[in-house]
Amino acid sequence: MQHVKQATNELVLSDQQLLFIGKTFAHQLDFALNGCAGQTLQVFPTFIDQIPQGTERGHFLALDLGGTNFRVLYIRLEGDRQSWLINQTYSVSQQLMKGRGEDLFDYIASCLFNFVKENGLLNIKLKLGFTFSFPCKQTSRNQAVLTHWTKNFQVSGVVSRDIGEMLKCSIAKYENLDIEVAAILNDTTGTLISCAYQEPDCRMGVIIGTGVNICYMESHCLDKEMIINTEIGAFGSANHCLDFIRTRWDKQLDEGSLNVGQQLFEKMVSGMYLGEIVRTIVVDLMKAGILSSQVFGAFTARNSFTTSNISCIELDSPTSASFTHTKSVFESMQISQASVDDCASLHLICSRVSARSAHLVSAVIAALLNRMARRQTVIGVDGSVYRCHPHYKTIVNDKVGTLLPLYDSDDNSALVKHFRLMLSEDGSGRGAALIASLSARPTYQGVQCEDCSRLGQIECPTCVATA
Ligand code: GLC
Repeated sequence: MQHVKQATNELVLSDQQLLFIGKTFAHQLDFALNGCAGQTLQVFPTFIDQIPQGTERGHFLALDLGGTNFRVLYIRLEGDRQSWLINQTYSVSQQLMKGRGEDLFDYIASCLFNFVKENGLLNIKLKLGFTFSFPCKQTSRNQAVLTHWTKNFQVSGVVSRDIGEMLKCSIAKYENLDIEVAAILNDTTGTLISCAYQEPDCRMGVIIGTGVNICYMESHCLDKEMIINTEIGAFGSANHCLDFIRTRWDKQLDEGSLNVGQQLFEKMVSGMYLGEIVRTIVVDLMKAGILSSQVFGAFTARNSFTTSNISCIELDSPTSASFTHTKSVFESMQISQASVDDCASLHLICSRVSARSAHLVSAVIAALLNRMARRQTVIGVDGSVYRCHPHYKTIVNDKVGTLLPLYDSDDNSALVKHFRLMLSEDGSGRGAALIASLSARPTYQGVQCEDCSRLGQIECPTCVATA
């Protein structure tokens, strides 16, 4: 165990290192927002320049593509910061994730058609928000050109094309679908907006799931306030500025990935990679004779250890006498002879890998809070790692709390910046509906809302007023 501790020390990042990372990010962000030549971070303005008022009403469709599943949602915004939704999850096969763009969008439209049919919404004019969680250059709220694929997607014929247009073409193949693609958004934007519907102080949206990303409301650099998608997952890829913390295990993982040299921050942080980092470390320590190959032999198979295994193992205390959860993970891998010391070693590797992830996210959150310089900021957060890991939230909360005042002393600023992490409830769906509703506002200025008269039970503000 002592040897494992020593061998994995480089996973532990000091506050000074994290502060340096935060400041490097802040500097690159400034460069990117000012459109300076040679920028190393590609950030995307979203064209969303307002926070919901909480009074938004109406009914919308939403699509959510970005992780392992694809979802179709029907959302009713009820005003008073309330909403209601139904949703259906569809799987996205490996074939679709690596196939042709047209097939992917036709599949999306076919799921949408089935959903609309099953819920009695055929021939009803509805606005749709599409949460498409990949890097896109937006030119308006409903035009978004994909710059490159991330996570486990590599669909041909989509990069450099407008996602809104491709979706419209596939939807147009169904006569009974009367749907307007009103908004294309990132999942972080959806998270920010859906949390802001409930908490007016929300100005940041964070996802720590299959991928990692952060958006925030920028108010200094552009002509007006606007949500900026930082695509933080790519941080460190263009100029190797994170190489001083990248270990040989990170490099090994990158070399075996679909997108070598890209998404280097994401590869140290997100759910798609954490389990594989732990596995890579275990195999390395086994080769070095620090871990027993009789016990850990099963770890040699790629992807044999998952990020959800980490969450399960960390339910045990590091000083546990029994390591019940850790043992159950070993058993699920057909390993029955793990000793308490083996459990403690695996537990230590998991907790160091997950704490490093949470600390890196904290470094960027603290840098953005410092930049926004607000007295009170609510941060909407979602994603499987954040939701399922037993201590992730506490680690982020504590580390942001430690790092933020370090900026204050540095900048000589007296402003105390309070923050609160808020778990987002279905931000991808509600956020998409809210953004579609922001673009839908003018349609409700007329005397009668066609949607309500046709649907009967669903009301818009105009219909409520005239009822
Ligand atoms: C990846 C995508 C990004 C998304 C994040 C979380 O980093 O590039 O757009 O927000 O994953 O899903």
